[in-house]
Amino acid sequence: MRLKHCHNTRDFRKLARQRLPSPVFHYIDGAADDEATLKRNTEAYASCDLVPNVLRGAEQVDLSTELMGIKLDIPLFLSPTALQKLFHHQGEMAVGKAAEKYGTLFGLSSLGTTSIEDISRSIATPKMFQLYVHKDKGLTQSMVDRCKAAGFDAMALTVDTAVGGNRERDLVTGFTVPPRLTLKSLLSFACHPAWALNYYLRGGFQLPQLRDYVSEGSSIPLSIAHYFNTMLDQSMNWQSAEDIARYWGKPFVLKGVMSVEDARKAVDIGASAIMISNHGGRQLDGSRSPFDQLAEIVDAVGDKIDVICDGGIQRGTHVLKALSLGAKACSGGRLYLYALAAAGQAGVEKALGNLRSEMERDMKLMGCKNLSELNRSNLRFR
Ligand code: LAC
Repeated sequence: MRLKHCHNTRDFRKLARQRLPSPVFHYIDGAADDEATLKRNTEAYASCDLVPNVLRGAEQVDLSTELMGIKLDIPLFLSPTALQKLFHHQGEMAVGKAAEKYGTLFGLSSLGTTSIEDISRSIATPKMFQLYVHKDKGLTQSMVDRCKAAGFDAMALTVDTAVGGNRERDLVTGFTVPPRLTLKSLLSFACHPAWALNYYLRGGFQLPQLRDYVSEGSSIPLSIAHYFNTMLDQSMNWQSAEDIARYWGKPFVLKGVMSVEDARKAVDIGASAIMISNHGGRQLDGSRSPFDQLAEIVDAVGDKIDVICDGGIQRGTHVLKALSLGAKACSGGRLYLYALAAAGQAGVEKALGNLRSEMERDMKLMGCKNLSELNRSNLRFR
């Protein structure tokens, strides 16, 4: 399997699986409990069909959109995800460069392996920072201040991680950050020498957003669930979210909203957008899929706030379906993480290129020249 043979997310996943030691692959690939929500996130898109129109002169297609006042060339962006240098030594820089090439938003995580400042210096595309509110208030404040100073465009507060999800694959593989060196993990690294050499000689694994505050995760290995359970502020509430939004003062997103009630509260606290998201099925298994929840949320708040459908996207048609229901944009993690693991920046560029071609082709086949032409009349639920 080679990069040029990767035509879709399934292909990138296969290549990633070949390249990564199994604990790392299963960390990306896995989800909570029985992984029912993970599966549903993608399957939900098959529960409705597109109804195309023809003979509309669809020679040129414009995929551009505006999200929170930020202009994007395509209606799909790269959700912030943790630990990218563990997947490929180029890490966030590769993902940011690929986002830049396709004119879309790049998300950097609180648990990112490249610093806010390095990303700001090197990546010109719009940037969103994903904030985990830590018990250590000084740490949380420092990340917001660093993003302000670095000129990030948007802040996404993650609200679905009060505790760590039950990721049983990580329990089986013993996945920790940084990887704990056991006989089993060493064997797995020995079977993937290219990854191991790059990781140890070129990656320089760190969690620079947490620098000066936390050594767990950077030098002391621990599991992600343990990190969530011990480091994050479980008492976070609507008032804290509002305080952060106000202090930040720029486009502010709540990432992980699933109910209409919470979508309304997001409007009340002055959020600019919500990401309907169940964290890629990695937190509450059995949670509804973002696409299944989209219509009722758009109906309630779509005229007041930008609604983003996050997770499960594997095809251009998935994006078109979500936009037809009223999402402003879609986003995803695995859709570019397998590609990053497979081939670094070239991999992410190919994944985004594939998806952009699909969206363009699908728009033409739908008889639509721009995204505003997509609406519920071109969808039927089964
Ligand atoms: C995860 C966190 C770190 O899902 O976002 O693993």
